[in-house]
Amino acid sequence: MGRLIEHEATGPRKLDESDIDPEKGDIAVCQCGLSDEYPFCDGSHRQTDGEEEDTTYRYVDDEGMDQRRVVERVVFADGSEETLEPSASE
Ligand code: FES
Repeated sequence: MGRLIEHEATGPRKLDESDIDPEKGDIAVCQCGLSDEYPFCDGSHRQTDGEEEDTTYRYVDDEGMDQRRVVERVVFADGSEETLEPSASE
């Protein structure tokens, strides 16, 4: 499984003590790419439950609700395409 995610940052974010969750005492860094509090986990990874191996997804905001869609191919601005075969998304 994989996800197509858009990121706007162009550099690293340095974490420090102020980033520690006062209730949990830790820092949870998002690895799914779906958090609205990126780079911190906000629980949005729960949406990935049920994702299948060898499938690439895109989460699309539909009136405030993220809808999961399967991506089969990517079309680039120059007209070229990339078909996402199961083996290509591993
Ligand atoms: S790992 Fe991404 S929201 Fe939790």
